[in-house]
Amino acid sequence: MKILLTGVNGQIGFYLNQRLSPFFEVFGGTRESFDLTNIEQMENVIDEFRPELIINPAAYTYVDKAEKEPELVFKANTVAAKFLAEKSEKLSIPLIQLSTDYIFDGQKEGAYTEIDKANPQSVYGQSKYEAETAIKESNPKHIILRTSWVYSLRGKNFLTTILGMAKNKETFDIVLDQIGSPTSATFIANTILAITKKIDQIDKNNLYGIYNLTCSGSTSWFEFAKAIIFYAQEKGLSLKSTPESIKPVKTSDFATLASRPKNSILNNHKLEKTFEINCPEWQNELKLIMSDKV
Ligand SMILES: NC(=O)c1ccc[n+]([C@@H]2O[C@H](COP(=O)([O-])OP(=O)(O)OC[C@H]3O[C@@H](n4cnc5c(N)ncnc54)[C@H](OP(=O)(O)O)[C@@H]3O)[C@@H](O)[C@H]2O)c1
Repeated sequence: MKILLTGVNGQIGFYLNQRLSPFFEVFGGTRESFDLTNIEQMENVIDEFRPELIINPAAYTYVDKAEKEPELVFKANTVAAKFLAEKSEKLSIPLIQLSTDYIFDGQKEGAYTEIDKANPQSVYGQSKYEAETAIKESNPKHIILRTSWVYSLRGKNFLTTILGMAKNKETFDIVLDQIGSPTSATFIANTILAITKKIDQIDKNNLYGIYNLTCSGSTSWFEFAKAIIFYAQEKGLSLKSTPESIKPVKTSDFATLASRPKNSILNNHKLEKTFEINCPEWQNELKLIMSDKV
């Protein structure tokens, strides 16, 4: 199968490219070779490569900056997704899209399921929700994967930010009153590989739809930061902070441009049942990632 994959320099795109390439013929798009804001370029690449599946993890992901440049955000996240959905529908091929917990307002008690009502509170969240809607309307052969709190050992994300701060500071403040499920980019990539193999092999029609995709269990940013420092210490990294030296703060003490969901926990049962996938506990996954063995 020929796969067009976007955003191969991003967290998920990078690992996905690694995982898919041994099994499939992959066109790995970058901002230069497959620019989400350049419909003409995207169309030319697709017409030339003739993919049998499109996977779109690329997105404008700077959630705070997004509040200041909504036009660009909607162009990259919504208009591009709509184009990819319409184009894939014309070619009769499936589209796998990455989406986010930011489509919810975070007010629910307990984990969000796929049928809970969206109510985005930020430009980024709105752009990703409208992308979902456009995809659902344009191409029935879609798989929308909603994930949250993505981290990896490369690039700029919560894990690498905490490691950087812990190396340089004896203490720093981390938000306690937002909860979610830390999810490694490698787990997401492995899961998308499994999904891709499945839709390549069997009757796909009952597999299309929206799925939550995160690690199991939940925690706060503060506890997640403590766990990162703990495993970094175990690994022998030289740090100025300890799990005990960092300080919990409230969201209200930590001004950001974009509003963040207080509760980002997503229920993974549908994904686990449909694709026979076991979502690992976030602590076990973090330990594995910190050991650098994946
Ligand atoms: N990170 C999270 O916590 C999180 C949570 C929920 C959902 N998601 C979703 O998961 C997906 C992947 O997230 P991620 O963490 O892997 O993101 P990421 O590391 O920020 O990667 C995004 C990629 O998109 C590329 N990109 C941005 N604008 C582009 C454009 N105009 N044309 C082409 N490429 C463009 C970036 O290119 P450059 O490398 O050139 O900048 C980058 O490689 C996104 O759809 C995101 O909405 C992420």
